[in-house]
Amino acid sequence: MRFVPFPSIEKRPRADVCCVPFAKEASGAIAPLFEDAVLLRTVRRLLDTSDFQAKEGEAVILYPDSVVASRLMVLGLGSADGMTMDRIRLSYAKGIKQLRKKSVTSLTCITPSFEHVLPKLVYRSMLEGLFFGTYSFQEYRTKKDAMVLNEVGVLSSAPQPFLEVEREVVARMDAVSFCRDLVNRNADEMNPQRFAEVASTLEKDGLRVLVHGKNWIEQQRMGLLLAVGQGAQYEPQFIVAEWKGDPQSHEKTVLVGKGITFDTGGLDLKSFEQMKGMKGDMAGAAAVLGVMQAVRDLKLPLNVTALIPLCENSIGSRAYKPDDVYRARSGKSVEITSTDAEGRLILADALDYAVKEENPSRIIDVATLTGAAEVALGSEISALFTNTDSLAYELEQASIHAGEPLWKMPLHIAYEDLLDSEIADCKNVGSRSGGAITAAVFLHGFVGSTPWAHFDIAGTSLLKEPRRYFGKGSTGVPVRTLIDYLITNSISDL
Ligand code: BES
Ligand code: ZN
Ligand code: ZN
Repeated sequence: MRFVPFPSIEKRPRADVCCVPFAKEASGAIAPLFEDAVLLRTVRRLLDTSDFQAKEGEAVILYPDSVVASRLMVLGLGSADGMTMDRIRLSYAKGIKQLRKKSVTSLTCITPSFEHVLPKLVYRSMLEGLFFGTYSFQEYRTKKDAMVLNEVGVLSSAPQPFLEVEREVVARMDAVSFCRDLVNRNADEMNPQRFAEVASTLEKDGLRVLVHGKNWIEQQRMGLLLAVGQGAQYEPQFIVAEWKGDPQSHEKTVLVGKGITFDTGGLDLKSFEQMKGMKGDMAGAAAVLGVMQAVRDLKLPLNVTALIPLCENSIGSRAYKPDDVYRARSGKSVEITSTDAEGRLILADALDYAVKEENPSRIIDVATLTGAAEVALGSEISALFTNTDSLAYELEQASIHAGEPLWKMPLHIAYEDLLDSEIADCKNVGSRSGGAITAAVFLHGFVGSTPWAHFDIAGTSLLKEPRRYFGKGSTGVPVRTLIDYLITNSISDL
């Protein structure tokens, strides 16, 4: 989707739908969030009936004469008091969603204005809402949605500063959709090889993508990645994607994404209920790759490298075995107490590579790591662990802006003894309680003193039921948070 700004309501282009925003005032009155006598006269009779209460995302479609549009969509944004970016996103997303079954190819939006929200942020939130409202994964459906929105006209009364907002939103949301598509695809389609091929297609405009196969992984002695991947018909892969946007600087952020293309649980096979959604066990990898696409599209003046270990955690005669001991790239030996705790194993080898080969200023990993994170925080809040509070603070700020909630959890190093093993240097699972924490503590054993943050997105990356502006399936969390974090980081570095 692309945006075509127009400078005033009178100058808006003709479209299949024109969307006009309203809010509910404290007095109960329904108030327009724009000024235009003709449009207001057109909706007068609707407002007189009280059929429309301007609740967030509530939409009524009118078919009036003479409004330079075939349809007028009267959209509610909820209470005028305490308007938030996320409410704007949600309202637009819900409104647009109602057009999906209609043959709509063009839309104009009258941007709302509020006393207490910066116009730039309103604009950004509206555009993001439009993207969320139009996203649906249709690849495997024979009958596609009738709505196809390529261009959207948007009222942008100060077009100069807003052009930058548009550019950022498009890059951000293209990255989110890219990530969501990868996760929503069949696991047998998005196998490690195919994922690596898709990653390779991102190589342009200075983004370098290297794909390493099993031989390289063996040479690297990534014994844990090899162990997890050995049961599958697909060979493991390891992607290194590099962006050198600031060659003068030694600063570098390394992103690491968990890329389990399907998690059967290995030989300690998951139950029927728990295996559902496990095609999404590469959501961390997909998110990190999406971020790299946006970094490239926005040509951010900083250095970022993504490391993505990929394999399938399968069953079969070759599968790695409970109780067996495997050696990590770092030299540590690990006793496998659960073959289902595979994410931390492949991440351990990637983190070790990051620390020793990439000279990172900071490492951020993203992983669908533990069901315990979902139990603790539910499906809207990601868990964040870190050994560096300033990094957590910056990520929290970015997440608030992006509307992707996260909560900082304790990296309680004292739990390390829960991972003590009789037969090896450590084991991969401690006790059931505090499972998200012990998983993070396990990872911590491979990052040394490098500033590091770990996102556990097991609960937030793939939804079983539609929520907020997301349908069932992938959400693309935390792509926008990471992009915002990097954008802010690149500004403060200047
Ligand atoms: N991929 C799962 C975690 C997960 C759970 C992701 C639910 C998305 C939704 C991970 O590999 C796993 O199986 N973790 C186990 C760890 C346990 C064996 C210590 C878990 O959380 O049950
Ligand atoms: Zn698992
Ligand atoms: Zn997993």
